[in-house]
Order: sequence, then C-alpha cells, then structure tokens
Amino acid sequence: MTKIIKCPKELLKNDLYRKNILITGGYSGIGLFTSKQLISQNASVIIAGKNKKKGNKISKEIGSDFFELDLSNRDSIENFSNEFKKKYKKLDVLICNAALMAPPALGKSQSSVRTKEGREIQMATNYLGHVLLIHLLENIIKLTPNSRIINVSSCAADSMPSGGQKNQADIDLSDPYWNKRKYIPIDAYGQSKLAQILYSNELAKRLEGTDTKVVSIHPGWGSATNLDRYYPFILRKILIPIIGRFLGAITIEQASQIHLYCALSPDIENGKFYSQIGIYGNKNMQKGGLPMEFKSPNATLEKQSALWSWTMKELNL
Ligand SMILES: NC(=O)c1ccc[n+]([C@@H]2O[C@H](COP(=O)([O-])OP(=O)(O)OC[C@H]3O[C@@H](n4cnc5c(N)ncnc54)[C@H](OP(=O)(O)O)[C@@H]3O)[C@@H](O)[C@H]2O)c1
Repeated sequence: MTKIIKCPKELLKNDLYRKNILITGGYSGIGLFTSKQLISQNASVIIAGKNKKKGNKISKEIGSDFFELDLSNRDSIENFSNEFKKKYKKLDVLICNAALMAPPALGKSQSSVRTKEGREIQMATNYLGHVLLIHLLENIIKLTPNSRIINVSSCAADSMPSGGQKNQADIDLSDPYWNKRKYIPIDAYGQSKLAQILYSNELAKRLEGTDTKVVSIHPGWGSATNLDRYYPFILRKILIPIIGRFLGAITIEQASQIHLYCALSPDIENGKFYSQIGIYGNKNMQKGGLPMEFKSPNATLEKQSALWSWTMKELNL
C-alpha cells in the first residue's frame, strides 16, 4: 500500500510572524485547510478569490485578508495586483492554487467554456491567469528574501481519464483553446495542468541565482472539495467516494500536506516537482516524493520552451 506523504510536524509549529502568504482560491477545499494551518502559525495570509461575499465571510472567520480576483479576467488580475501592492510591500510565498476542472461545454458555441477573448476557460484560468499574476507580482516577490512561488498542478498533467489513464496529457500549441479539436473538458484540464509544470520549470531556470524559488506540486487526488462540481452527482457523491478509496483518494487535510511542505520547508529546491501519492499513468511516480522527477512523455524541454514563447506573446508580456 502506498504511504501518504506528510509535512513534518516540526514545520507545522514554525512561527510565521511577519510572513506574507498569498493563496489564490484559499477560501475553499485544499486552499482553505492550508490557509487555516498557516494562520495558526501566525502567518499573515491573504486570500484572493472570485466570490467576494464568500471570501469576506470566510476571511473574517479564519483571520485572513481577502481580495477579489477572477483569474479568467485580465482587468481583474491587474486591479488585484495594484491593490495588493498598495497594501503589502513584500510577498514571501505565492501559492497559485485556484482552478476549475472539466466544466461542461454547452451547445455548439461552447460559450460556457470560453472567456470573453474566446480562450478555453481552464487554459485561461488555471494557467494563463496565474502566469499573468506571477509576472505582475514578480518584483515584489524578488525583493522579498527567500521567497517562493508554488504552482499547484495535478497528476492529471501526466495522464487523465478521458480514455482511462492511457491518455497522456499534452499541450497542443497549434490549437491551445480547442477550436479545431473536439472539446474534451477533462483533457483540457490536463493540458492546463501540464502547462503549469512546464512554465514553472522554465521560470525557475530564469530565476536561478535570485532569492526566489519556484516549484510545482501535485497535492493528491480525490479529496472531497468542490473541484469536481461539474461531475454528475452519482459520480461525485457515490462512485468516487467508494472507488476512490481503492485508487488512493485522500482527505483534504492529507492533500494540503504538499502545499504546506513547499510553503514551509527550508529544503525546497528551485525548479523541482513535489508530489503526494497520485494516480499517475507512469507507475514509478505513483508513490510521490519530496521532490520527485515528473517524467511524462509530453513534458519535454522543446515543449517547455515553445510554451514560454507562446505564453509571453499571448499575454503581451
Ligand atoms: N481535489 C483534488 O483531488 C485535486 C487533485 C489534484 C490537484 N488539485 C488541485 O488543487 C487545487 C485546489 O483545488 P481544490 O480541490 O481545493 O478545489 P476547490 O475547492 O474547487 O478550490 C478551487 C478554488 O479555485 C477557485 N477558482 C475557480 N475559478 C477561479 C477564477 N476564475 N478566479 C479565481 N479563483 C477561481 C474556486 O473559487 P469558487 O469556488 O468561488 O469558484 C475555489 O476557491 C487546484 O489547483 C486543483 O487543480 C486538486
């Protein structure tokens, strides 16, 4: 039986007084558990999220700060970054945690899965939105000693069931928004998550020699969060909870361990991938690791470099 990876207990007792930690989507699921733990260690946690009412309510309850941020909308990301920089002069840890998974495409126009610029929503939110955010906050992060950026990806960056785990996730830069291909929502999720890892690796290379480390992570699979909100009820509430147990599904607390380890450990290495146990197609990766080599057929250096060029052009950076 594969052993769930835990953040060492002593790290969960560190005093984080004066540490500013920004987490996107930190008012729910794995992000919320992570936020609460960091606050219990005295950190100043700033949550950025789409739902203002929910964000303010939860932040009041747990003692975080809250800013509105819609990662699928450029204006919102720019506004947020300006407001954040007015209030905070340093950023120790940025956790790019928010995401959506496999929203259904309704009708031929697929308008439900497109941003106003016509971008596929998962590529736009999970990937491009976070890239823009990182670039707008890069200066303040680089000015903060021993800072870090954590890109929350998934084992879906290796393989994801549109056809069981046989399907390798891939990034198709000739059709990144699924205009020419048949839209398969879960494969588009895999594409956005692979993009996060390759971008993270490239950014780490470019920040080599600075005081900022960049890592990507897989938190673990199957925890009962809202991520599967678009799945049919029977799958979310009955099948996954039952079958999931045999496939290595873990709890929200267990899934937050990699977030916490990467935010707290003095030993993290720039450009590495940290993973909880996972349902990777590649069996060698299933036991996870701190860090672990992310070895997937489409995670090539050529793709990484092409993705970087495409991304900078796409975002006008
Ligand atoms: N749970 C798992 O099994 C699992 C497995 C592998 C990886 N992960 C990764 O772990 C991370 C956390 O997921 P979770 O499971 O905790 O799911 P979750 O509870 O659904 O959290 C995702 C968060 O992202 C936010 N979000 C979605 N669209 C956004 C947008 N346009 N702008 C700003 N925020 C947005 C959501 O806000 P609203 O709720 O207001 O929409 C929510 O707070 C994700 O990156 C996910 O890919 C999770």
